[in-house]
Amino acid sequence: MTTCETQALLKQLEATVEENLDRHLASAEDWMPHEYVPWSEGRNFAVLDGEPWSAEQSRLPPAARTALEVNLLTEDNLPSYHRELGGTFGRQGAWGVWVNRWTAEEGRHASCIRDYLLVTRGVDPERLERARMATVQAGFDPGSKPLLHACAYLAFQELATRVAHRNTGRISADPVADRLLARIAMDENLHMIFYRDLVKAALEIAPSQTLRAITDEVTGFVMPGSVIPGFARKAAQIANAGIYDLRIHHDDVIMPLVRYWRIFEIEGLDAEGEQARQDLAAALEALDTRATRYVERRAEAQAGRPTGQHG
Ligand SMILES: [Fe+2]
Ligand SMILES: [Fe+2]
Repeated sequence: MTTCETQALLKQLEATVEENLDRHLASAEDWMPHEYVPWSEGRNFAVLDGEPWSAEQSRLPPAARTALEVNLLTEDNLPSYHRELGGTFGRQGAWGVWVNRWTAEEGRHASCIRDYLLVTRGVDPERLERARMATVQAGFDPGSKPLLHACAYLAFQELATRVAHRNTGRISADPVADRLLARIAMDENLHMIFYRDLVKAALEIAPSQTLRAITDEVTGFVMPGSVIPGFARKAAQIANAGIYDLRIHHDDVIMPLVRYWRIFEIEGLDAEGEQARQDLAAALEALDTRATRYVERRAEAQAGRPTGQHG
């Protein structure tokens, strides 16, 4: 897409951004992160004559600990996302207002998950801080996505984040963590709705290009947490515990959006649009097959182990 075409699209979509921004501001609740942290459990660490961290202090199951760590480090990388969004959407008008509002909301997520984990001694604070330094210094570079690709990616990514937070809360076996993560997931849901509806509008303005963007993002989807040290191992543990796996990715993230956009009902596509739609159908089928195979293999592996060992 040329710079000129991108500028034209930004203009054409501006009314939708404005409308969605207004709806977002009307429905977003000004919640207070400090209310979600059990401060009375907090105590000093070693340097202030307290007790150093040790693993048995954590009440979280190992998979929940890993998931919370990955969720937090992903949220911690906000400066990179802000830079990418600012570069793609610009500072002007409703686009610029959205970027800053979204950044302010996302900033809450890292701060209260960190407060929760430190106060409850959920993770090793030293390892966490080293990982944060490494993650933020690595930054997140999605490779300058064109505008429509960025919108499609963000719709999937916000939904993936909502699902990951929600499922982490569920398996945490801690009502305090569950409540905190459910609250954050509500924010992620509103973010998803914003991009979902933007993509919906783009499908009407530029159907073929938008379909190509959706197809490319389904095919090449990478979680923003991929820059976290040891991500592959952590993602495998998270998938193994059923917090976020290929089946969930297909069923709860990709398909609900594909259905919402009514992609397979769009009429009057040109040849490029039809091609993109066929490619998408093939990509969805391939993802579904991989998901089935993954779940089967996991069940086999878990059946071969004593219960309570997985995760
Ligand atoms: Fe977030
Ligand atoms: Fe979000």
